Amino acid sequence: MRTQVAIIGGGPSGLLLSQTLNRAGIETVVLERRSRDYVLSRIRAGILEWGTVEMLRQAGVGARMDREGFVHDGTRIASRHQSFRIDFAERAHRNVMVYGQTEVTQDLYAAQDKLGTPIIHCVDGVELHDLDTETPYVTFSADGRDQRLECDYIAGCDGFHGVSRRSIPEERRTEHVRTYPFGWLGVLSETPPVGSELIYANHARGFALASMRNTQLSRYYIQAPADDPLEKWGDQTFWDELRRRLPEDVAEQMVTGPSIEKSIAPLRSFVAEPMRWGRLFLCGDAAHIVPPTGAKGLNLAVSDVHYLSDALITGYQGIEDSLDQYSTRALARVWKAVRFSWWMTNLMHRFPEHTDFDLRMQETEIDYLAHSQAAQTVFAENYVGLPY
Ligand code: APR
Ligand code: PHB
Repeated sequence: MRTQVAIIGGGPSGLLLSQTLNRAGIETVVLERRSRDYVLSRIRAGILEWGTVEMLRQAGVGARMDREGFVHDGTRIASRHQSFRIDFAERAHRNVMVYGQTEVTQDLYAAQDKLGTPIIHCVDGVELHDLDTETPYVTFSADGRDQRLECDYIAGCDGFHGVSRRSIPEERRTEHVRTYPFGWLGVLSETPPVGSELIYANHARGFALASMRNTQLSRYYIQAPADDPLEKWGDQTFWDELRRRLPEDVAEQMVTGPSIEKSIAPLRSFVAEPMRWGRLFLCGDAAHIVPPTGAKGLNLAVSDVHYLSDALITGYQGIEDSLDQYSTRALARVWKAVRFSWWMTNLMHRFPEHTDFDLRMQETEIDYLAHSQAAQTVFAENYVGLPY
């Protein structure tokens, strides 16, 4: 089997890269470890930067997003002393779109099927070979057969636990990690959202976030020990704790109901450098992880796809320089999103090692954000997404 670009991973990175390359006339094959149903069962974040909205539209997968998504031009920040709104449109002249990652992935699969792109599910034992030559190839097993995929380039879109990053020699890789001493307990419920916009709350008991998917589907999170057993968090226990952490006016009007999804996720910041090794290019979670506070995970994957698709398209036009620039260009934006996500996580969460001074610094930072147009502009331009 042969293709131009072999893509490891059928999540948002791999699918959007494949879709973008196919529409530029470049052939791809996507190798995905899990079944399609499994991939589409994952509940992930739901905030799209405007750059992501435009990338999806350019890739021909924006129609349902434009029909069913919700454009948001602001968010609410709450703390012990105050609650205020940051207006993205006024401060950064851009918006965000509320549209679930699961929906984005579904739209990408549908578009790829329409193009007839080979997507091989339930592959096993993927190995990358001869990455530092002009004839790299991939071996794997699928349908009970050992197979080999010859290609010009390999895109490692296989997430944090994938094989691609580990295929770069350890001595050539630098990994930067910050693990946070807490996780996020998330609940999805078929209830009307508590507000028309998101609410991020800094509370003495811990962080809370009120988000949504649509007018009848709410998404809530509370900071919780990353190793808490889910059994500890029955629905009523969760709702009671969430109410304690949200502003009173919000908690009073919150409609609760049975959770249809509940999970605890650890929080970490992670960046692997470089994002290229020979003919292998890392993209998305394979290269970096951000805490969900700034809603950057999916958007950074799209950012990498923007740079990598551009580099591969111009590379096939004979302009090799763009492939050489990919890692540097992608990482420049990755680190800015990692910074914002780290800053917002430190601003909004309670850390076990916090001293009184640390708490006063947090309160003061939030107070400064509440009253400074300049501070709100900085927040807004990072939240809606810095330019590519
Ligand atoms: N072989 C083939 N596929 C693999 C392998 C492997 N060895 N290892 C992992 N995969 C697949 C996973 O099953 C998954 O479907 O690669 C895909 C990676 O998808 P994601 O983890 O979603 O990563 P990415 O596409 O970069 O999207 C990043 O997804 O997880 C969220 O928070 C993350 O929002 C961010 C977004
Ligand atoms: C979500 O809706 O899942 C969501 C929204 C904003 C975040 C994180 C998650 O910062």
